[in-house]
Amino acid sequence: MMKDKSNKHPETLLTHSGRDPQAHFGAVNTPIFRASTILQASMAEYKRPKGPREQRYGRRGTPTTFTLEDVIADVEGGAGCVIASSGLNAIALALLSQTKAGDHVLMADCVYGPARNFANKILARFGVTTTFFDPAIGADIDGMFQDNTTVVYMEAPGSQTFEMCEVPAIAAVARKRGAISMTDNTWGTPLFFSPFAHGCDISIHAATKYIVGHSDAMLGAVTYNEATEESVRDMAGTLGVFAGPDDVYLGTRGMRTLAVRLRQHQESALAMADWLWNRPEVDRVLYPPHPKDAGHALWKRDFTGGCGLMGFVLKEATDTGLAAMLDGLELYGMGASWGGFESLILPADPGANRTATTWNAPGPLIRIHIGLEHIDDLIADMDAGFTRLARASN
Ligand SMILES: Cc1ncc(COP(=O)(O)O)c(C=O)c1O
Repeated sequence: MMKDKSNKHPETLLTHSGRDPQAHFGAVNTPIFRASTILQASMAEYKRPKGPREQRYGRRGTPTTFTLEDVIADVEGGAGCVIASSGLNAIALALLSQTKAGDHVLMADCVYGPARNFANKILARFGVTTTFFDPAIGADIDGMFQDNTTVVYMEAPGSQTFEMCEVPAIAAVARKRGAISMTDNTWGTPLFFSPFAHGCDISIHAATKYIVGHSDAMLGAVTYNEATEESVRDMAGTLGVFAGPDDVYLGTRGMRTLAVRLRQHQESALAMADWLWNRPEVDRVLYPPHPKDAGHALWKRDFTGGCGLMGFVLKEATDTGLAAMLDGLELYGMGASWGGFESLILPADPGANRTATTWNAPGPLIRIHIGLEHIDDLIADMDAGFTRLARASN
């Protein structure tokens, strides 16, 4: 068992954190504990005041859950982590844990649509107001603070438009103002971006994406620092936030190979971004790890890598042309998710939800997830797509 995690590299933490084989018959992986009732040895034991991981009841988690909590928190640099049933469940938990009636939330205009919907629909119902801000605002966010602002919510880069936020500057203003900053770190993953090292208090994951990594389970995670530990854990316990042990096990299994998978996603995504930048039909490619991206300098300063999710804006396309391009693809499935081993494609509509800023683009935005297929096959398939687009547009 790993004795000292403080001097280990992230890849080593991914491999060893949260495991204790000798506690489980020597099995390398923590087994799947299926449990609702967990029996106590005696009345004295039942009555003994318990720590968070001793409160024995299935909903409170088992070693299966604690293993995933520990490996995510260790790699990301948080004080701890709560596993939720989906990314959206994690978003709801994070926001509810830091707000009360009369509070005000600042939220980036580029966030995942359902996060925005949760603020506008549910938080509003409980007397919490939300103002949306330009993701490029940086330290000027200071001017948007109200006396009752308690939360700043970011997503960097945004998972539709790939706009970067100045996370450290925004988080520093939040801290100065006594507010909690949180960021949806699904794109960054626990491996490539540590919100905590950049001044944030809470990190949110749709673990459904790269953490599970194989498109076969829904899962979420909220990682917290020491200052927010009690409020996050208390809200999770109060709401009954929970994920089933089979899905949690798949999340842990995904974490063990996260580094090698992401390395390949990134290599292929960079090659695809380069190829797309050279296409005459493309206005711009949205992928911060590429040097031509508007957010590249921020990404390079704050992130240690990039995943396989990106976008590109076409100069022009009719609906018929776009359908001919997308429907004929062999290797890119049309599905509203990402982070699995397979490539995906979607037409996106980033202007639909924005209120603080407008989305300016000459043609449609296509979002793609670059999977683990050979890059030459992915490029050939996309190339044939552009040919169909041209034919159908003439
Ligand atoms: C950036 C981001 N955050 C959160 C979510 C929500 O995750 P889930 O689908 O697991 O609820 C998604 C899902 O698409 C996402 O892309």
